[in-house]
Amino acid sequence: MSGGCGDAHRRRDRGCYSIGLMTDELHVEPLGLDILAITTCLVIDVEAFPRPALVLPRDVTRRGSQVWVCRSGATGEILGFLAAHRVGDTLHLSALAAGAAYRRRGVGRALLATAVAHAKKQRLARVALEVHKDNEAAILLYENQGFSPVKTLPSYYGRGQHALALVLDTRPQRSSRAAKLRSRGGQG
Ligand SMILES: CC(C)(COP(=O)(O)OP(=O)(O)OC[C@H]1O[C@@H](n2cnc3c(N)ncnc32)[C@H](O)[C@@H]1OP(=O)(O)O)[C@@H](O)C(=O)NCCC(=O)NCCS
Repeated sequence: MSGGCGDAHRRRDRGCYSIGLMTDELHVEPLGLDILAITTCLVIDVEAFPRPALVLPRDVTRRGSQVWVCRSGATGEILGFLAAHRVGDTLHLSALAAGAAYRRRGVGRALLATAVAHAKKQRLARVALEVHKDNEAAILLYENQGFSPVKTLPSYYGRGQHALALVLDTRPQRSSRAAKLRSRGGQG
């Protein structure tokens, strides 16, 4: 199956984000308190990370926290999840994983797009996260979605295990706003 979104169409309604792929459709929705869905997320978490990334029930119930899951439209199966929480005017991503059998199918991209759209809707200034500096797949995913590295965090994941801090500004840049105003005013 094609894993890219180039051949995908996108639909957004009632807070859900869907990507129609050629052979399946991905639906992103809030996790909620469905015990089966929570269990699936925990299984994906165990497969994906050396230590649990999803902290339950905190990540679902804490004010300002949000977990989204990505489901297969064909089977309803949960293929991945993303956990985020708000810190001031920043949406901080604390966990993103696609099930090992479902990678390179657009799951990570769909979840990330949902979190970024949520931050914009909430008028937050940025989306931020840390990622292991050797996690090439994740760094490519984030950079392709417009995130930029802002600093290295030495030994963030333990001795010698460095992290990169990445940020996406979600507000229009001052310079582009100024350019728009100038062009509206007919100035050069
Ligand atoms: C990182 C992760 C979430 C990506 O999810 P995914 O659903 O496989 O990613 P997508 O299919 O949406 O890929 C989107 C883009 O990311 C990049 N990418 C993803 N996986 C990649 C890989 N293994 N190698 C190179 N690029 C990759 C590509 O640019 C890809 O676009 P393309 O397929 O059109 O080339 C997944 O690999 C994962 O769960 N890893 C383990 C947990 C983890 O490391 N989480 C991130 C912690 S911050």
